Amino acid sequence: MLSLKQIQQLLNHDIEQNHQVIINQLSSDVVLINQISHYIIHSGGKRLRPLLLMLVARALAYKGQAHTKAAAIIEFIHTATLLHDDVVDESALRRGKDTANNVFGNAASVLTGDFLYSRAFQMMVELDQMKIMQILANATNKIAEGEVLQLLNCNNPDITETQYMEVIYCKTAKLFEAACDVASIIADAPTSTQHALRQYGIHLGNAFQIADDVLDYTADSNTLGKNIGDDLAEGKVTLPVIYALQGSLDKEKALIREAIEQGHHPEMDKIIQIINQSGAIEYATQKAQQSAKLAIEALIVLSDSVYKDALISLAHIAVERTH
Ligand code: IPE
Ligand code: IPE
Ligand code: MG
Ligand code: MG
Repeated sequence: MLSLKQIQQLLNHDIEQNHQVIINQLSSDVVLINQISHYIIHSGGKRLRPLLLMLVARALAYKGQAHTKAAAIIEFIHTATLLHDDVVDESALRRGKDTANNVFGNAASVLTGDFLYSRAFQMMVELDQMKIMQILANATNKIAEGEVLQLLNCNNPDITETQYMEVIYCKTAKLFEAACDVASIIADAPTSTQHALRQYGIHLGNAFQIADDVLDYTADSNTLGKNIGDDLAEGKVTLPVIYALQGSLDKEKALIREAIEQGHHPEMDKIIQIINQSGAIEYATQKAQQSAKLAIEALIVLSDSVYKDALISLAHIAVERTH
């Protein structure tokens, strides 16, 4: 198993090129846009999605460099969603720093998110490949649907695991799927391989988001770089809560339902303790591991290489990560 650092070393040259594209494409004549976009881009994101795209391309024996630009587009779309998401979620901490909305305000954050989305579209046009444009336009649209769907599900304690899975597919896994799909197009992979790699991306993305939802209950805020306990405080129904609601005593269930319906709750610490002791963390972690396993199984279409090993490791990292 490779560590994230070892995977990054493997793609050292690609990552450097991808970084250059990101920096070059950030520039705007409007000072505030430069300020905010640099603030968020330089705040230490993991850059997992560009890494994924570039790894898949190399695993498919792609020899060119066009993938570094496609990877930058994916990171811009991701960053734009984060700028918008932190406004919607009223989050104060991201990547271990004050969120852009906290520093620059909601309006400036939303508008800079729009700048990053539209810059991503400009870069897509430059790639001049209709299939790639289609994949990325669909993914961007699906993410927006996921975020709105989640908004509709908020404060509703009757949300099911199936409804939860639909939201996380749209808001998170879709972009992982798109990263794999674009890599397949760039590397000119056969249709069956492309299909399998899309499955890899979906399962990896699901594993990643379920793990993220567990971390919201278990992590240390300094390590995670985001505030803990925000999900329930927002009335967001994630997998640990869904499980805890099923397995708890009536009195405990009533408390959890209240927290979901109201968001902030005077007995929040107790409610979080109930969730933690319900077996919900173990259940959700197991679900994330199952998704990671499905992701790894989809890689059977790839011939053996160090890049394939890295993709296998990435599935483990998605679940075992602490930030
Ligand atoms: C955060 O994604 C949003 C989720 C899908 C949970 P990352 O954890 O990849 O964020 P950065 O880019 O590394 O900050
Ligand atoms: C992240 O979702 C944003 C998208 C995937 C579009 P969350 O709200 O669940 O993640 P964090 O905790 O803010 O990173
Ligand atoms: Mg959020
Ligand atoms: Mg959110």
